[in-house]
Amino acid sequence: MWKDWLRPFVRALPQWSPVAIPSPQQVVAASLRSDDGKSRDVTAAHTVASLKPLTIATGFDAGQRAVLEYRDNATGTLLGVLRLVRTDSVVTGGTPVAFYRIAAGEHHCLGWPRRSWNAWLQNRAMRRSPHPSLMDFDAVQQLMIAYLCPRPVVLVSVAAPGHSNIFPMDLIGPLEQGGLFSLALRSTNVSVPVMRTVRQVALSGMPATMKAIVYKLAEHHRQPLHDWAALPFPARPSQTFGIPAVAAALRVRELTIVDSREIGSHVFFLCRVVSEQDLAEGPQLHHTAGFHQAFRRRQGMPLADA
Ligand SMILES: Cc1cc2nc3c(=O)[nH]c(=O)nc-3n(C[C@H](O)[C@H](O)[C@H](O)COP(=O)(O)O)c2cc1C
Repeated sequence: MWKDWLRPFVRALPQWSPVAIPSPQQVVAASLRSDDGKSRDVTAAHTVASLKPLTIATGFDAGQRAVLEYRDNATGTLLGVLRLVRTDSVVTGGTPVAFYRIAAGEHHCLGWPRRSWNAWLQNRAMRRSPHPSLMDFDAVQQLMIAYLCPRPVVLVSVAAPGHSNIFPMDLIGPLEQGGLFSLALRSTNVSVPVMRTVRQVALSGMPATMKAIVYKLAEHHRQPLHDWAALPFPARPSQTFGIPAVAAALRVRELTIVDSREIGSHVFFLCRVVSEQDLAEGPQLHHTAGFHQAFRRRQGMPLADA
């Protein structure tokens, strides 16, 4: 029993917790405050555009400097804050998209000194890991703050003559209500050139029960899929494009890619939603920050583990 008591002091919290919640998530609200003090709900209108440099994209231009605040929806508790500096802004099909670098960030999910101690333990684990991290320590902590809004996990299907693939993504999201949707994909992903050419993808919202299969498909970020029939689940053609999607998906969205740009380590795809089919009810696999789940556990309201 003394080991349970000691654990938080010797072992880092996981950076990410896989959780099972309905989509769109209603657990945490995000608001973007501009220089002039105006605030706007961006819960369903901001996303991560690149990991290095860590970049946030929003469907709302809040000016040169802005503050992104994450609050618990039920209690209003401020969970975390990211301070942003705008680097670029574009207009795509009449919709403004602004890109922000993160100047600083803090979270309130752990009290002091556990917050600093946990970050130190997490940094030490990264230093010792045989897989070097793409990001520096501060950026990883800031990314975890961005994951206070639990991010849904989908499988992205790509189908073109001579190239098929299906791989998991969570750096995705709507950027506005009108149907602009983005994907941030590492430029090393084997399907990037094909996606830039065919400009069509299908996204399958994955039930939390399929977590193990979803994680296994991460290998397809590096290698294409040779045979749809070899997948460990049935696929069925998407509504308009006929791209194989997951038959057991909760929802299938089809996207047309309208723009793609390189932002450091990632290619940022801006897309329009062409169709959206709700197929089943049930909790979807999401990722949130480990310190967020620890906070909720302490409050006696943990999200269901996936
Ligand atoms: C659930 C899940 C979600 C992922 N989401 C993304 C994503 O949104 N964008 C991305 O580029 N990679 C994503 N990945 C891929 C991995 O982070 C990683 O890039 C991939 O496994 C290849 O790693 P490597 O290039 O370091 O070998 C995801 C992987 C998993 C398991």
